[in-house]
Amino acid sequence: DIPNNSCIVIFGASGDLTHRKLIPALYHLFANQGLPESFAILGVSRTHFTDQEFRDKLLGILRETETVDENTLSAFANHLYYQGLNTSDVEQYAQLKARLDLLQDHHQTEGNTLFYLATPPSLYGVIPECLAAHGLNTEENGWKRLVVEKPFGYDLASAEALDAKIHQHFNEQQIYRIDHYLGKETVQNLLVFRFANGMFEPLWNRNFIDYIEITAAESLGVEERGGYYDGAGAVRDMLQNHLLQVLAMVSMEPPSAINANSMRDEVYKVLRSLKPLSEHDLKRNLVLGQYTESQVRGQNLPAYRAEHGVADDSRVETYVGLKMEVNNWRWNGVPFYVRTGKRLPTRVTEVVIHFKKTPHPVFGADAPENKLVIRIQPDEGILMSFGLKKPGAGFTAEQVSMDFHYKELSETTMLSAYERLLLDAMNGDATLFARSDAVHACWDFVQPILDFKERPQSLYGYAAGTWGPIEAEQMLARSERQWRYPC
Ligand code: BG6
Repeated sequence: DIPNNSCIVIFGASGDLTHRKLIPALYHLFANQGLPESFAILGVSRTHFTDQEFRDKLLGILRETETVDENTLSAFANHLYYQGLNTSDVEQYAQLKARLDLLQDHHQTEGNTLFYLATPPSLYGVIPECLAAHGLNTEENGWKRLVVEKPFGYDLASAEALDAKIHQHFNEQQIYRIDHYLGKETVQNLLVFRFANGMFEPLWNRNFIDYIEITAAESLGVEERGGYYDGAGAVRDMLQNHLLQVLAMVSMEPPSAINANSMRDEVYKVLRSLKPLSEHDLKRNLVLGQYTESQVRGQNLPAYRAEHGVADDSRVETYVGLKMEVNNWRWNGVPFYVRTGKRLPTRVTEVVIHFKKTPHPVFGADAPENKLVIRIQPDEGILMSFGLKKPGAGFTAEQVSMDFHYKELSETTMLSAYERLLLDAMNGDATLFARSDAVHACWDFVQPILDFKERPQSLYGYAAGTWGPIEAEQMLARSERQWRYPC
């Protein structure tokens, strides 16, 4: 749907997220006629820019990083504005309000305003308070919505405190907590795949599934984000949000309808069913790792501790591998092995469903594996492995596969995660945004890991460019299972 006329206010407009994700997403939406007929984008941050300087800067970035059409680009630029503001100073929001009034008249935005917080998390509580002090939270004149980037909190207590603070000024229906994994086409496809196909749904439970893997591997290190990452680590950066959301999509019950309430009720229910990690789990079913220096194909990969912005004696994990369980009727006893890490051999995010073997090995001990690999990125698609008769004498089963690649649907242009989520927020559809109760359930689940991280000897090393600590392999080997190693 094309959203109503509106103004998008981006706090943190001179930051990396705005340049790398938000402005390119808005440009693509504009170029594909996805934005409203009339709209304004107002960048806000401390740095001083004129509108023209801001436009020049963003256009420069778009020309460098995207394939652009000059006419479209200059039409897009006419919608860009900038307001310098000390975002912690409530008085200065009077200037923002005045600016919004002007833009509202000029672009007929009818007071509809999306406030996007792409700032450091320390401002997530302050900005809503300052907006409210100037009445910019009330919906008497047009809708007002708040998009909050991750991380939403630092642990359970801070997430609760942040929620309480924002809820003083904005109600839950106005708050859109971003988890960009939910904006990915292939994550959404998990639902369609499961609930639109009668052939898979009957098998999707403990009776037929042996175990499930969820992997989000990255080949890059922390790059320029050492300062942020060293205060976060993989558990906060990837597990608490993205991976648990993917796990929810894989394991949730079918919602009665695809809308914000039904969907998020089911997500919350399954997240509340995660088996809390015991002391035994923390010691045996959790592997935290940090990459060390290594040589890969003649290239020297530095240790995490040598990265810019990282403490020399940092004990922050860049890898987490975990065995989890969902304590409910459908999943009782099925392990979910979840892992994510930086500086692994390749960049891949995938879900692997391992089906149980047939009860009796008629065709020899090496029964073929029945496995479904749902590739979330890159090379989005689905691979199904099963056994067929090997041609020739005798009866030997041979492993074969069927492989579907999204790129073969050549007529489809996939919206990027940020395009999809920005559109949904403008359209008031919160289905793909994390609800307060689910965010709390995720923090509640990971809190014991955050506490465990503080103990000495909780961290293993792994050579940069490998699949993480050997202990993660051993964790599965103990149950005669193994990770898939995609290349
Ligand atoms: C971000 C994390 O949320 O997700 C990054 O902060 C990580 O550390 C990124 O690299 C991964 O996202 P994607 O879309 O590249 O899988």
